[in-house]
Amino acid sequence: MNNQQLLANDNLSVKTIKEGLKTVCFGQEVKYLASTESTNLTAKKIAQRGGNEGALVITDYQAQGRGRLERRWWSPPGENLLFSLIFRPLFEINQTFRLTVLSSLAVAEAIRRETGLEALIKWPNDVYIKGKKVSGILSELGVKDEQLQYVIVGIGINVNSDPSIDHEIRDVATSISVELRQSFSRLKLLQVVLELIEYYYHVLKEGNFISIRKHWDALSLIKGKKVKVVSRGNIQEGIAESFDEDGFLILRDYFGKRRRVISADVSLSVV
Ligand code: BTN
Repeated sequence: MNNQQLLANDNLSVKTIKEGLKTVCFGQEVKYLASTESTNLTAKKIAQRGGNEGALVITDYQAQGRGRLERRWWSPPGENLLFSLIFRPLFEINQTFRLTVLSSLAVAEAIRRETGLEALIKWPNDVYIKGKKVSGILSELGVKDEQLQYVIVGIGINVNSDPSIDHEIRDVATSISVELRQSFSRLKLLQVVLELIEYYYHVLKEGNFISIRKHWDALSLIKGKKVKVVSRGNIQEGIAESFDEDGFLILRDYFGKRRRVISADVSLSVV
């Protein structure tokens, strides 16, 4: 089926999402809501009531879409992908950044595969096309007695919106339809993202994080570039390399010394 045929039925529903979805876990349980406050909040409630790994919460509109650094996530009704997934990983709390890494890799790869656009990943968890943000990821943890109970990975992908109509984001955001100059099927893209998340999660569980990092590095927007990282008032500059086992960005400063930058609360720009 080509994109035009898929677009004829781009309505999100439990049925349309599951039809033709080639996963065994992610997206097999679906909660579709025409609108909600935030899919991360809804998914968190489901996880707290014992919801299963792989459960998908998806909506056409978020009244309080949340981004990193207490920002809002803007998205007009019915145009984009706004969804959250429940993970129940067996690893330590300090390794959960790996889920964000594999999710951003899955999003970038799905966009490249389905649209041919050159999507790249900007550490720690954004996906960019031609220098503008097309997708963001917000991961939130559920912890009890210092044990990781669940992780909610919330993903927003600008598919058919026109960010140029919002003065706050028009210079920094883009969408797939803006880049392709035509509407694009949300359903097909969603299914491929879910399939790739499931695939890379399996790779991670097999202990092959190095292979994920290799793929991620190949799609890194910042690798080898001069970047400026601002974190809690602290500014660091250097050439970006990869990230390490703990999720820290490795920067080589202008004296050739390697520095590790934590991903929490950072804002990063290419200089
Ligand atoms: C960011 O780049 O700041 C992260 C944005 C994450 C947005 C998604 S949309 C679905 C999920 N629900 C939310 O409230 N936020 C995430």
